[in-house]
Amino acid sequence: MGSTSPKRSPAAPLPSASSPSLILTQPTAAERSRIWTLTHPMWGPALTLDGYLSREAYLTTVPLAKEGGVTHWILTDGSQPPDARPLLSSCETLRKRALSACAPTSTPADVTVVDGIAHGLGSVFTDEQYRGRGYASRMMQELGTRLRTWQVATTNHNAPYSPSPSPPHALFSVLYSDIGKTFYARSGWAPFASSHVEFAPAPTEPPAQNESSVAKPIGYHELAELCSVDAQLLRATLARRAVTHPGTACVALLPDLDAMLWHLMREDFMTTHIFGRTPAVKGAVAGAVGRRVWAVWTRGYYGGLDKVEGNTLHILRVVVEDEDMAVEGELAHGFSEIIRIAQAEAAAWRSADVQMWNPTDKVSALVEACGIAHRVVVRDQSSIASLMWYGEGETAELDWVANEKYGWC
Ligand SMILES: CC(C)(COP(=O)(O)OP(=O)(O)OC[C@H]1O[C@@H](n2cnc3c(N)ncnc32)[C@H](O)[C@@H]1OP(=O)(O)O)[C@@H](O)C(=O)NCCC(=O)NCCS
Repeated sequence: MGSTSPKRSPAAPLPSASSPSLILTQPTAAERSRIWTLTHPMWGPALTLDGYLSREAYLTTVPLAKEGGVTHWILTDGSQPPDARPLLSSCETLRKRALSACAPTSTPADVTVVDGIAHGLGSVFTDEQYRGRGYASRMMQELGTRLRTWQVATTNHNAPYSPSPSPPHALFSVLYSDIGKTFYARSGWAPFASSHVEFAPAPTEPPAQNESSVAKPIGYHELAELCSVDAQLLRATLARRAVTHPGTACVALLPDLDAMLWHLMREDFMTTHIFGRTPAVKGAVAGAVGRRVWAVWTRGYYGGLDKVEGNTLHILRVVVEDEDMAVEGELAHGFSEIIRIAQAEAAAWRSADVQMWNPTDKVSALVEACGIAHRVVVRDQSSIASLMWYGEGETAELDWVANEKYGWC
């Protein structure tokens, strides 16, 4: 693969990965475009180069990313000027809202639930000409430290106005490794549960279109209320789990509206380019308020129209509103209709499969009870959910609650 990096003179050898002259900083706009041009074959095969460059630029303007929520990073030689320096390795981080809960004892009054931020890391990339020299490892080591304080609110009243200020705690950071479990673990991101339930697409009329159906499609306008309920339920779940596991920190990314919109607006960009239209059905919900079950989903395209194997309908989040409801009967019936709508949407939008990441015990029981053919896949190479914890105790001992696809970036 050709490189768009500036050519180095033979007299300027590449710096060692441990060189003090290496810095972690932000790329200029031109450097960012160079990186995107290099990553296009890997991450944008369903788009033309121009389409991919437009998407990456567009993704700096959507919820979560806008107003400085996304940060692009490069490891480079600090002794050289911007736009003429080598882009030795690169990645990006996305600021997200997060929660942690811990209780020293099993007394509910002892629980502290903390609101904070967590960074999602993605697009880790080293140009082929620079690979194998330790640059990505150096970048990850520097980032692990930098992110502990990055975008954390200060009490500086002279700071520029921000419509969405960060809370004063960076709780943890996450990434989803496509290169197995060891590379990122070496820099402090421990691998967590990474399995999914897979359903086949089924080109049938969705049950929601029948009079007798209990499940209804979710569109953009229903999401705000559902995400708000979900966030409240998750807060309570975290507090409950902290009490049942005293001394263990329970953490979660907040499944708020912005977290979902980041995925859905990305999906809309992709489907507009591939199909010339956007899907209206963003999930499905069944049951009466207080007894609902719902799923929110997004379609991901790496194969486009030519290679359906690269396309997946990802269930971002599954919520059971009343955890005390019996699995059989009403709940299983509603859940099965939701999955059938997902299967029909997957078929209509050229997805090879439907994936639901790390279902809870309750949702796993629903999967079994709903009677729809499926298989469980335990991943060991791709999309390995990995987390670095900034609080006390070992990362690997954390209880990562709601480790579902909505956290991916
Ligand atoms: C992965 C990548 C960023 C590593 O960059 P790098 O600067 O060469 O990394 P380092 O020199 O610090 O470390 C090299 C180590 O990365 C690991 N690694 C690289 N590619 C790997 C892969 N496909 N699977 C597993 N491990 C891999 C190996 O442990 C390798 O060690 P080795 O050279 O002894 O085999 C680079 O290969 C790349 O850009 N690949 C394409 C994009 C990509 O896959 N990004 C990761 C997305 S999660």
